[in-house]
Amino acid sequence: MSAILEIESIRQEFPVTKRMLYLDSAHQTPMATCVRQALSEFLAEGNEMAGPKPVWMRRVERAREGVAALLNASPSEIAFTKNTSEGLNIAANAVPLSNGDTVLMLEGDHPNNAYAWLNLKRKGVQVRFVKVADDEIATAETFEPFIDAKTKVISLSHVTFHAGQRHDIASIGRLCAQKGIYLVVDVMQSVGVLPVDVRKLGVSVLAAGCHKGLLVPQGLGILYVKAGLDELQPAYLAMSSLANPPEDYIARPDDLAPRKDAGRFEFGNYNLPDLHALSSSIDLIRKTGVERIEAHVLELGDRLIAQLERLGVRLVGPRTRANRAHIYVLDLPVAEWLDYFTQNQVRVSPERGGIRISFGLFNTSEDVDQVASLIQQRLSRGAHPSAATQVD
Ligand SMILES: Cc1ncc(COP(=O)(O)O)c(C=O)c1O
Repeated sequence: MSAILEIESIRQEFPVTKRMLYLDSAHQTPMATCVRQALSEFLAEGNEMAGPKPVWMRRVERAREGVAALLNASPSEIAFTKNTSEGLNIAANAVPLSNGDTVLMLEGDHPNNAYAWLNLKRKGVQVRFVKVADDEIATAETFEPFIDAKTKVISLSHVTFHAGQRHDIASIGRLCAQKGIYLVVDVMQSVGVLPVDVRKLGVSVLAAGCHKGLLVPQGLGILYVKAGLDELQPAYLAMSSLANPPEDYIARPDDLAPRKDAGRFEFGNYNLPDLHALSSSIDLIRKTGVERIEAHVLELGDRLIAQLERLGVRLVGPRTRANRAHIYVLDLPVAEWLDYFTQNQVRVSPERGGIRISFGLFNTSEDVDQVASLIQQRLSRGAHPSAATQVD
């Protein structure tokens, strides 16, 4: 079970746990019943009353306050976007960069982050990819040797989707502050699962979508932009981005000043259904406690690692607690193993290094034992882990 969370009541919120062994929160989290309820209530209001929009807009601000509290940010530092990619592209186009400037990234990090910066090639901006092994993490030392006068940005994931590494953002943040470099972090995999404290991490910009640890259906993203970075200016403009939006809805060519707060990066109407869902999911996460969710998934990770050791299956990512979170990639050939898990009602993901198991707040130690037992059954029938594992 779990000594850390009130797991019985949490599992009540996730009916999917009665149907299958869901070990795929890094892909998408199942919808919690409270989130479904928030969506239903919103739909009923739209259906029966066509609004009222002012009430909905007040709830947007409530969701913003919830996100800010989760990140230890101020609500004025939070903007809503569509997904991680949009947030990262906003950042890439907001940071003042010119011909010859360099962005440092990690080789193999999420392509949606890489493409946002690679697209600046048109401006002569170069992206340099730094290597870090799958079972290691990036720290300040990883990047420091590559920094020169032209380096303006470091951008990376907090937790990687492909090996589950939990990079040391705080040390990279200190390095960036020392060198006057912007730090842009993709927290898609970590937010809602680990404490993400923008002050402790020392980040300039954070971006995430809400359909993983934040438990909301696809189509909503969050963007944190540190207060005071006024030189970061929006590439797109709409009425909602303006400091003085025209009350008569007639555009004023002589007043294009954007808002001072992170709202300068918002344009147009919001994803209102998802924002209702987000307030509900953040209530659930904050009530549970993100530190406890972290402790819970790490404990499940400890148990999984012990089981893998017993079975002789190699873990692709880091083993040290401080360097991992809820994502564990097993060195099992995808072509031979994915169908097996599917046939046994176990939801996992294929990854470049093998089979990815990822935990959510609703998983239990029994879930870990169950997947370990399934692996054992297949191994005992003659299947074997990958060649790399046998050599180890
Ligand atoms: C680290 C990371 N970044 C970004 C994404 C997805 O990007 P987006 O929210 O733009 O779809 C994912 C996975 O879906 C991810 O794991």
